[in-house]
Amino acid sequence: MDTDLTRPAAPGQADPIDTLPPTFRWGVATSSYQIEGAVAEDGRTPSIWDTYCGVPGAVANGDTGDVACDHYHRMPQDVALIADLGLDTYRFSVAWPRVQPGGGGPANPAGLAFYDRLVDELLGRGVDPWVTLYHWDLPQELEDAGGWPVRDTAYRFADYVEMVFAALGDRVKTWTTLNEPWCSAMLGYAYGHHAPGRQNFADGIAAVHHLLLGHGLAAQRLRAAASNPIELGITLNLAPADPETGSAADRDAARYTDGLANRIYLDPLFHGEYPQDVVADLAAEGISLPVQDGDLEIISTPIDVLGVNYYFGQLLSGVDEHGRERDEQGHPVRRVIRRDLPRTAMDWEIVPESFEELLVRLHRDYPGVPLFITENGAAFNDKPDADGFVADDDRVAYLTEHLQAVARARQAGADVRGYFAWSLLDNFEWAYGYDKRFGIVRVDYDTQRRTPKRSAHWYRDTIRRVRGER
Ligand code: FCB
Repeated sequence: MDTDLTRPAAPGQADPIDTLPPTFRWGVATSSYQIEGAVAEDGRTPSIWDTYCGVPGAVANGDTGDVACDHYHRMPQDVALIADLGLDTYRFSVAWPRVQPGGGGPANPAGLAFYDRLVDELLGRGVDPWVTLYHWDLPQELEDAGGWPVRDTAYRFADYVEMVFAALGDRVKTWTTLNEPWCSAMLGYAYGHHAPGRQNFADGIAAVHHLLLGHGLAAQRLRAAASNPIELGITLNLAPADPETGSAADRDAARYTDGLANRIYLDPLFHGEYPQDVVADLAAEGISLPVQDGDLEIISTPIDVLGVNYYFGQLLSGVDEHGRERDEQGHPVRRVIRRDLPRTAMDWEIVPESFEELLVRLHRDYPGVPLFITENGAAFNDKPDADGFVADDDRVAYLTEHLQAVARARQAGADVRGYFAWSLLDNFEWAYGYDKRFGIVRVDYDTQRRTPKRSAHWYRDTIRRVRGER
């Protein structure tokens, strides 16, 4: 394309993106179950997502990850795409049931070999590998033994992490333990929208603690095993919750929502304690976090990077449509207000201002840890032309506004050091199946053909511009 897509909308105005430093890290993110396919190859055993996809009605259109983007067989071609976009880093996840089939016993060399080849392919192309150790594909056997609500799963996770590190630690510098423990715990165990599909709030809260414990144990094992310096972290999906008005009820609804979405993870990680108000909220519902002596020291093992995944903001009200502060059971009302804002195909509100505020708040409340945007992006109803090209100006606008928010947050002091677009490819979007497309590269699922969208061209050109390469 010859038009310069990277210019700001208003001619003559400085684009905040241009203030990002030349050292800023640029990448894309993916996850194993969403792209790999090859679910029964080289010794891989089922994960909770394979099982969940078999539950009638659980996933849109009955879609599964059986083939997905067939990345397992097309990996070199996909790495070439990443390199051609000029990206310096690729964030991918390792599938536990490939590396340790059944979630117990020794490592599976054939499963590890895939990631070994991937890392070498990336390094050969000048792209840094960024490994996420858990992006939701728990071996089914561990779910059968109780899953994340059970304490032992945290220890099993730490054992598996050691196996991955033993195979890749000589070449991989950056390690993320968990992707979005909120989704694993709450969508998986409390609300049942994700695998394994349980609907028990107390199980969800137990899962929160055991995921964090698993993170802390894994962090300790990685530090102990590393002979060279590593960058160690966790990725959280942080969804800001703002009160609709300054009323006490609205402020309390926002406080509650923020507590369970954000602070229940951030406080133990960085302050070594669960927030008192969240503990009290849970106690009011007859639930307690299953904390044992020493757990919080393990969970707050110092980390080097915090991964932030941001997609949308939320506005909270503490009253119902009739102005009542309590529902019929006497519980406080906590209602997400539907704002008159543009939305993505996921029906998620587009609020880049909340992204900027979030990053500045993280810098204020949890200072000292560098931030990386490990996911940000949007699904839209892409319309390919006859050649499969998508002129996704809506996605370009979303990415532009959110990168500008990152740049402004940096100007306000937030130590953000890199950005990963979600996602490289259209892929299996969990319970939405293949209906929702987040890729900057289109995948034609009939032919597996990859076609970079306009957003991919825009991303490449923006990165070049910021690096001063053009
Ligand atoms: C995040 C997940 C990622 C993808 C995006 C859209 O919550 O980490 O796998 O599904 O949402």
